[in-house]
Amino acid sequence: MRIGVLTAGGDCPGLNAVIRSVVHRAVVGHGDEVIGFEDGFKGLLDGNFRSLDINAVSGILARGGTILGSARMERARLHEAAENAQELARRYGIDALIPIGGEGTLTASRMLSDAGMPVVGVPKTIDNDISSTDRTFGFDTAVMVATEAIDRLKTTAESHQRVMVVEVMGRHAGWIALESGMAGGAHGICLPERPFEVDALVKMVEERFARGKKFAVVCVAEGAHPAEGSMPYEKGAIDQYGHERFAGIGNRLAVELERRLGKEARPVILGHVQRGGTPTAYDRVLATRFGWHAVEAVHRGAFGNMTALRGTEIVMAPLAQAVTELKTVPEDRMYEAESVF
Ligand code: F6P
Repeated sequence: MRIGVLTAGGDCPGLNAVIRSVVHRAVVGHGDEVIGFEDGFKGLLDGNFRSLDINAVSGILARGGTILGSARMERARLHEAAENAQELARRYGIDALIPIGGEGTLTASRMLSDAGMPVVGVPKTIDNDISSTDRTFGFDTAVMVATEAIDRLKTTAESHQRVMVVEVMGRHAGWIALESGMAGGAHGICLPERPFEVDALVKMVEERFARGKKFAVVCVAEGAHPAEGSMPYEKGAIDQYGHERFAGIGNRLAVELERRLGKEARPVILGHVQRGGTPTAYDRVLATRFGWHAVEAVHRGAFGNMTALRGTEIVMAPLAQAVTELKTVPEDRMYEAESVF
């Protein structure tokens, strides 16, 4: 068989582990040929690809980013890909395509699949918000990076008797904020799923100081927003993909807390540092398992699906269901964390 692989959308620690695993299972396990398209679907449309043999993937397991490059793509070009799906498969002589990506990539994969391209998707996102899989690789790494940041910020906050506001990624789902906030023992956690009350945050910090604790850390997801009337707030800019972006909630909340508390507050925007660098052992293993199972699914002809983790098992989930709804943080998980405002 000849299998094409590509990585699309925002990058994520563990992408290289999937690519390596696909090549190992396909080339060594089945005697297949693997080609990698450069920069996501762009490479598929523009004919930029390279052959991936065992040597090409040697030493990449622990490397962050993606050796194939990644890009987000406008809808119009994705439609172009879908319209030409069968012709594209013929052009490159591929029997299957394994796109590795998040919500947008899986939606595009579904379009290609519906148009006749044999596709098995692999989900990825540090945000962990894809509903048909219990976990995505990259999430564990992002939580580890954010937790370390919270740990470190606590000591400097204490030295200066400050309130630190750490903004982590998560536009629509607050999983990174929830889990890094819990692991790091943040005193306040703000999620996109529940508008937060600034008064309650102010009260929490005042109570801490009254108890003799002279610092506080608030972990806020980039997509979190205050309850109506709770503080001055305008929506962020809309980017070219239609996503609300750059609301700058970390900065705004730090300014507001400083004003209301009369204590120094500092914002720390972690940003893409959460997506860079080497994946954790957990993410390397999950990514490797996804790659292995994607190739097996190709050999079984189980197209139109993506790999998914259910409990401890890897199963196939229909692409049609993969992206119908984002997996957001449910109320009961917020109660467990106790410090969600
Ligand atoms: O979807 C993953 C994600 O990491 C979001 O949490 C974040 O808002 C976004 O990507 C940032 O993407 P970009 O690389 O386009 O800045």
